[in-house]
Amino acid sequence: MMPGRFGLQVNSAPPRLRTVGAIAAVAGALGAAGAMILRPPWSGAERARQAVLAEGRTFYQQHCARCHGANLQGQPNWQRRLPSGRLPAPPHDASGHTWHHSDRVLFEITKRGTAAVVGGGYESDMPGFAGVLKDEEIRAVLAFIRSTWPERERRFQERVSATDREAQ
Ligand code: HEC
Repeated sequence: MMPGRFGLQVNSAPPRLRTVGAIAAVAGALGAAGAMILRPPWSGAERARQAVLAEGRTFYQQHCARCHGANLQGQPNWQRRLPSGRLPAPPHDASGHTWHHSDRVLFEITKRGTAAVVGGGYESDMPGFAGVLKDEEIRAVLAFIRSTWPERERRFQERVSATDREAQ
């Protein structure tokens, strides 16, 4: 039996579970290989994607980090309202709720600011970046933010975005 992360459990598991473990391990390896085949690191598409993410990271550090944190961690006590009655900047990592929103909503908030998107006199410290960042620059920042999320949050947000697109 190969030593490994699941070595101990697999060794002591009943034969059927051992088979399940082996199938899961093979499926995992095939999944990773599949991603490499579909989008190998040396392909033009993958290099273009990496370039957009690098650009997005730079824009993030220049325009977003001072409020949302250099590591996307948000402001301290971000769930508690400030004395002004407004909300602090939430994290953009998986501990926040950015990943609950569709691509369209995230784009609108970033371009127009939260107050304009919510409407009805809602007050917010989240500025709009229209006139500061071009549309494709906003998309690059959001692509960078999405790229930092674990698989589960990314999948969830993809589904929210797909549902939102169908509703438009
Ligand atoms: C001056 C501080 C400040 C800067 C700079 C800033 N934000 Fe924000 N952002 C906020 C605050 C505060 C909120 C919460 C607003 C609210 O809910 O009323 C917020 C909320 C958001 C949200 C909604 C998140 C959610 O889960 O509801 C997004 C998306 C967002 N910001 C993106 C960005 C991006 C992208 C940048 C950089 C291009 C940026 N912000 C720069 C302060 C800022």
